[in-house]
Amino acid sequence: MKTFNVKDLNALEKRYRIALVNSVAGFKSANLIGTKSAAGAENLAIFSSLIHLGSDPALVGFITRPSKVARHTYQNIIETGVFTVSHVTASLRESAHQTSARYDAGISEFEACNISQEYLNDFPAPFVRESPVRLACTLEDDIHIPANDTRMIVGRIQSVYIKDGFLHADGYLDLAAAGVVAISSLDGYHTVSEPVRYAYAKPDKPIKRLPYV
Ligand SMILES: Cc1cc2nc3c(=O)[nH]c(=O)nc-3n(C[C@H](O)[C@H](O)[C@H](O)COP(=O)(O)O)c2cc1C
Repeated sequence: MKTFNVKDLNALEKRYRIALVNSVAGFKSANLIGTKSAAGAENLAIFSSLIHLGSDPALVGFITRPSKVARHTYQNIIETGVFTVSHVTASLRESAHQTSARYDAGISEFEACNISQEYLNDFPAPFVRESPVRLACTLEDDIHIPANDTRMIVGRIQSVYIKDGFLHADGYLDLAAAGVVAISSLDGYHTVSEPVRYAYAKPDKPIKRLPYV
């Protein structure tokens, strides 16, 4: 068994450490975050740190890296208070990955990476047209994490847009059927197979598999 203690992790070559430590938290979500600066420059970037924070109110959060270099997504969210989330599918993944390149602020990744954009219901930030699951969010909180100078952006979900055919009768959203991919480390993209679902677990009840409908 390979073991890394804190000293070993600190001694690793930088790229190797990034790849390893980015892997150990497990599979992550693949999302494109769309923003627009106060001056009107559109921006799109891939983020794998988006997580569910709560359902009532409906909140998501994601981590943005330290602002040692310009972080356009972060700046735009602070300027405008809004952002969109568009889930990445297998057909979007190549161009989605390309959005991680450091483009100048004046360059829209929608154009540079050939991704079509769309505005929905007067929401002021752009969505990815082809994405099957999309969220409109307003900035709820901006939390500094002193340990590594990152920030958690908390977003309040204002609208959810789901293309037809993936939403089950009980509210379960079938991301696999929608073709949404998962990410491992910083460059592994996975297509996902059909889920096995279980009923709400109770101490005195046997585990029960739900029908896949
Ligand atoms: C698979 C993948 C996941 C990423 N996830 C994050 C993330 O969660 N947080 C972050 O700050 N950057 C993340 N990045 C890096 C950003 O995509 C990259 O810094 C991008 O240039 C940010 O663009 P912006 O300056 O326009 O916001 C990720 C990159 C890749 C390839």
